[in-house]
Amino acid sequence: MRVYDFRSDTVTKPTPAMREAMARADVGDDVYGEDPTVNRLEARAADLLGKEASLFVSSGTMGNLLAALAFCERGSEVIMGRQGHTFLHEAGGISVLGGVAMQTIPNQADGSLALDDLESALRDPADYHEPVSRLIVLENTQNACGGMPLSAEYTASVGAFAREQGLALHIDGARIFNAAVKLGVPAADLVRSADSVTFCLSKGLCAPVGSMLCGSRALITKARRLRKLLGGGMRQAGILAAAGLVALDTMVERLAEDHQRARFLAEALAELPGLRIDKCSPHTNMVFLALEPAFGRNAVEVVRQLAERGVLVGATGERTFRLVTHHDVDDEAVRVCAREFARVMRS
Ligand SMILES: Cc1ncc(COP(=O)(O)O)c(C=O)c1O
Repeated sequence: MRVYDFRSDTVTKPTPAMREAMARADVGDDVYGEDPTVNRLEARAADLLGKEASLFVSSGTMGNLLAALAFCERGSEVIMGRQGHTFLHEAGGISVLGGVAMQTIPNQADGSLALDDLESALRDPADYHEPVSRLIVLENTQNACGGMPLSAEYTASVGAFAREQGLALHIDGARIFNAAVKLGVPAADLVRSADSVTFCLSKGLCAPVGSMLCGSRALITKARRLRKLLGGGMRQAGILAAAGLVALDTMVERLAEDHQRARFLAEALAELPGLRIDKCSPHTNMVFLALEPAFGRNAVEVVRQLAERGVLVGATGERTFRLVTHHDVDDEAVRVCAREFARVMRS
C-alpha cells in the first residue's frame, strides 16, 4: 500500500539531485572552518537573508537556542508568542540551558504579537525584582496559527519597537521561504529589521538535515562558540551542506505548489459533513481541521482509521488535526487524502 504522509513537511526525503551533490561534495573539517561546501552554504544563506554571516546548525531548535543564548545573559527574559514553536516544542532549552526566562503573550489570529502586548510585557529595568527584558522572538510562518505568514511591514514595526527599547529581535523563520513565496517578496525583506533569523533546510526545502542561523558577523562568531559548547560542531559537514545548497537553488520557488495543494485539500475537506477548516487555513502549506462537536469520534480515532487506509495526518488536539503539504505529496496524494477522509468521516 502506498502511504501518503501529511503529518509534516519534515518527512520530506532528499531529492536525487541532493543525493548526487552529497556524494560528490568537497569536504574538510568544519570545526577548523575548512569545509568548503559548508563555507559556501553559509555565504549563500547570509546573502539570501541579507545578513553579514550565517552558521550551519543541526536543527531549527539549535538555531533558535543559539540566538537566545547569544543575546541573553542568565536572569534575562525573552518575550515570545504563546503559540510559538520555541515556547511549545523546544524542550524549554532557553530556560534549561541558558537560565533565561520566557514570558509569553497571546498570538493574534493572524499570528502576530500586538505591539501593545509587547509593550506591557516589558520589564522595568530599574526594578531588581524583575528579570531583564532582552529579546523578542517572532515566528514566520507562524506554524500553530495556521502557517500564517507575517508581512515585512509588521516585522519592521516590531524591529523598530525592539530597537527603541534596547531589545534584540530574533525570527524563527523555520518556514521563512514559504512566507516569502506566499507574499511575493524576497526573504531578506521579511527579516530586514531582525537581528537574527533561523531558517530550516530540512522542512519544505527537502534537505535531510540542517538549519541556518543568520545575523551580524559578531553574533555568528558568538554562536559558533556556543554551538561548540552544545556539542554541535560538525566535522565533514559538507556532505549535508551540499544538500542544503541544492535546496536553496531548486526548492524555494516550488513551495508555491505546496500552497496550491493545501488550498485544494482544504476546499475538498470543507465539503465533508462533520469537519470544519480551522484557523482560516491554509495560508501557506498547512491545513488545520476540527471535528464538529456532534461528530461521534475523536481525532485520534480518525487518525488511526486514516492510517489504516495509507493516509498519515497529525492530531493536534482531542478534536483537531493538522495536514501539511510538501514536495513528497503530489496531486494524486491530495486526491487520495480527500477521498479517504470522506470515507472515514462517513463510515
Ligand atoms: C516553526 C518551527 N520552528 C522551529 C522548528 C524546529 O526545527 P527542528 O525540528 O529542526 O529542530 C520547527 C519544527 O517543526 C518549527 O515548525
